[in-house]
Amino acid sequence: MRGCLLAIFLSALFLYYFCLLTDTFFLSPRVTPMEMKPRNKIQPCLSKPAFASLLRYHQFHPFLCAANFKNTASFYGSDKFDLPYGIRASATHFRLALWKLPNCDLFDEFDNVPCKKCVVVGNGGILKNKTLGEKIDSYDVIIRMNNGPVLGHEEEVGRRTTFRLFYPESVFSDPNHSDPNTTVILTAFKPLDLKWLLELLTVSWQNRSNPNGFWKEPALNLIYKPYQIRILDPYITRMAAYELLHFPKAFPKNEKPKHPTTGIIAITLAFHICHEVHLAGFKYNFSDLKSPLHYYGNATMSLMSENEYHNVTAEQLFLKDIIEKNFVTDLTQE
Ligand SMILES: *[C@@H]1O[C@H](CO)[C@@H](O)[C@H](O)[C@H]1NC(C)=O
Ligand SMILES: *[C@@H]1O[C@H](CO)[C@@H](O)[C@H](O)[C@H]1NC(C)=O
Ligand SMILES: *[C@@H]1O[C@H](CO)[C@@H](O)[C@H](O)[C@H]1NC(C)=O
Ligand SMILES: *[C@@H]1O[C@H](CO)[C@@H](O)[C@H](O)[C@H]1NC(C)=O
Ligand SMILES: *[C@@H]1O[C@H](CO)[C@@H](O)[C@H](O)[C@H]1NC(C)=O
Ligand SMILES: *[C@@H]1O[C@H](CO)[C@@H](O)[C@H](O)[C@H]1NC(C)=O
Ligand SMILES: *[C@@H]1O[C@H](CO)[C@@H](O)[C@H](O)[C@H]1NC(C)=O
Repeated sequence: MRGCLLAIFLSALFLYYFCLLTDTFFLSPRVTPMEMKPRNKIQPCLSKPAFASLLRYHQFHPFLCAANFKNTASFYGSDKFDLPYGIRASATHFRLALWKLPNCDLFDEFDNVPCKKCVVVGNGGILKNKTLGEKIDSYDVIIRMNNGPVLGHEEEVGRRTTFRLFYPESVFSDPNHSDPNTTVILTAFKPLDLKWLLELLTVSWQNRSNPNGFWKEPALNLIYKPYQIRILDPYITRMAAYELLHFPKAFPKNEKPKHPTTGIIAITLAFHICHEVHLAGFKYNFSDLKSPLHYYGNATMSLMSENEYHNVTAEQLFLKDIIEKNFVTDLTQE
């Protein structure tokens, strides 16, 4: 009897891993947790992208959905990590915030482009005085980040935004920047980020608590409607940190743990939903501390050189590597 149970257990285990292994590059007809909840499916793209070797899963549904995020998290191992790379210890925060979001779809219901060409637009000063706007607007999917404006910079960076990644300290609060065609993606780094979203979605303006525990004052209002907001699956950020940037799992006590910048998280997202990925605005000139840091505003490179939360060296090496291997095309390569 015991042997029989063991055999059943072992074959179940085998099947589980077999399924994990086979469910990599092509959408299989089998229903996986990620396909259960979004109302529409990702259009299957059957040819392999250039960067396929970097990934475990391609055509991954990158947004958490209220109804199944716990299953998804355990399927992809996100229940074994705390924020920022998993949901452990914060499942309640995730659940409360997710229940406020009416939509967790990736693309809209009219989407029918199977192999998407995407551009990830970094906020780098290298975009200044360039006229890449029209080119950028021609992609199927345009991914931007934080408060990199389109308004007033259309010639340099274009007008369209499909996705914009943000966190509470980096999101626009001026309604001039709202765009009904953009889906904004919260990258949660701490439980407070989810509480912040929940509060902005539920509590009336006057009753909001004074925000504490943010590294910079977060936005106090949301210019986006709930249907536009998604929460990024921490799997994407974990993938960026451990698999792409090769960050260690633990840092010395006297050092701040390093996390990927939004730019690298955006590229990782693109790898999981796109077939071809192009970059713009990802180059920094460290030898000229007076050169502009962003294509907007007046910040200079001197602000970037010291950063205890990110490892800029590791990121630049990663970018160089994926450009040299032709995994991506850099539109701002000199
Ligand atoms: C961009 O152009 C302006 C005006 O032509 C010039 O003053 C500025 O130095 C240029 N910036 C860069 C980074 O080339
Ligand atoms: C936003 O729009 C208003 C009204 O059009 C204008 O007065 C204001 O300067 C704009 N703000 C920014 C930051 O562009
Ligand atoms: C949003 O998309 C629709 C359909 O493509 C387009 O007609 C409209 O101009 C866009 N709105 C903005 C503000 O970009
Ligand atoms: C907000 O505060 C006011 C007075 O301080 C109170 O009457 C009202 O019930 C509160 N609303 C919510 C949604 O908590
Ligand atoms: C970086 O800045 C230095 C000093 O201004 C300049 O000589 C160099 O050409 C710049 N490099 C790039 C890649 O723009
Ligand atoms: C940047 O500098 C210019 C000229 O030096 C100034 O007019 C502008 O207001 C500054 N912009 C910001 C965002 O500080
Ligand atoms: C940053 O990454 C580089 C390259 O992976 C590594 O050599 C360096 O030790 C890292 N620095 C920190 C402070 O983690």
